[in-house]
Amino acid sequence: MKAIICKKYGPPENLEIVEYKNPIPNDDEVLIKIYAASVTDSDIFIRSSKVPFKLLIPFRFMIGILKPRNGIIGEVFSGVIEKIGTRIKRFKVGDQVYGLTGMSLGAYADYKCMKEIDSKKGCIAIKPGNITFEDATSAAYGGLLAFQFLEKGNIQPKQKVLIYGASGTSGTIAVQYAKYLGAEVTAVCSEKNIQFVKSLGADKILDYTKADSISKLEVYDLVLDSVGKRKTSQLKEACKLSIKDKSKFVSIDNEALVCSSDRLNKIKQLVEANKISPITDRCYPFEQIINAHRYVEQGHKKGNVAITVNT
Ligand SMILES: NC(=O)c1ccc[n+]([C@@H]2O[C@H](COP(=O)([O-])OP(=O)(O)OC[C@H]3O[C@@H](n4cnc5c(N)ncnc54)[C@H](OP(=O)(O)O)[C@@H]3O)[C@@H](O)[C@H]2O)c1
Repeated sequence: MKAIICKKYGPPENLEIVEYKNPIPNDDEVLIKIYAASVTDSDIFIRSSKVPFKLLIPFRFMIGILKPRNGIIGEVFSGVIEKIGTRIKRFKVGDQVYGLTGMSLGAYADYKCMKEIDSKKGCIAIKPGNITFEDATSAAYGGLLAFQFLEKGNIQPKQKVLIYGASGTSGTIAVQYAKYLGAEVTAVCSEKNIQFVKSLGADKILDYTKADSISKLEVYDLVLDSVGKRKTSQLKEACKLSIKDKSKFVSIDNEALVCSSDRLNKIKQLVEANKISPITDRCYPFEQIINAHRYVEQGHKKGNVAITVNT
């Protein structure tokens, strides 16, 4: 099968398309033919190994000393079940699925074996039937991040919720999910994304690049930082003071992303009910993985970026 490996930590050019032996599922595994994979911030992080110095040793210990030890990288997939092991109960051949590969990585390839039970090595669920494989990777990645961290806020109807970084993969879904839960949503983005973020349902918009946005802040029941701790602004710092309860400033980096098929099922229901629409900024052919990494690394994608692995 074709697969993308990271030869050694470094720039996008260190990614290489190689021939790899096809995986064979164990009794408790399914074999997925991958149709699309996301190119996420986590993939960039793993490829480049650009981590703060104090995290470098734990990172290399966990992922690999000179290169990712799993060879094939990629954490988010969507595809079709091609074979099942004898102990598989939840899936059958032909099911269209989506999910995360977690710590086992390996989504940038034609095939991936996965267990049907959630663990740090991933989660898998039936994909929403009304969207493409590429959009499904956006729903899996952005949806799992947004749902996990918005659940911390226990949002009630009419509460004021601010989504900081509303134009990213998780931010676009967080705006829609908070609206679905009945919140009054203030979304933060830059000027070029204002109309786009309004179209997701945001009630109010603040521009993180404009100094006068700080004076427009209200007092919120929940603030979700959906771009993570490495991206900040004066407005974000001010948001930390504009909440009723300090514990309700939630960063998407506060804890590890949980691989949850229950959440994937919930996301599927809301996508199929047209309450949430995953956003795909760009799709690159598999062969253009280097360009896809270059684009995502710039940090300005609008929603998600996917690679098409098979058609
Ligand atoms: N907890 C975990 O295990 C886990 C796992 C995966 C990811 N994460 C975190 O999740 C973060 C978000 O990932 P994502 O893919 O959803 O987002 P993203 O797509 O990387 O966010 C991109 C968006 O961020 C906006 N942006 C850039 N700098 C900004 C700033 N200083 N203030 C406000 N917005 C800014 C950009 O808009 P402009 O073009 O207008 O700048 C762009 O639309 C990652 O960076 C990572 O920190 C956590």
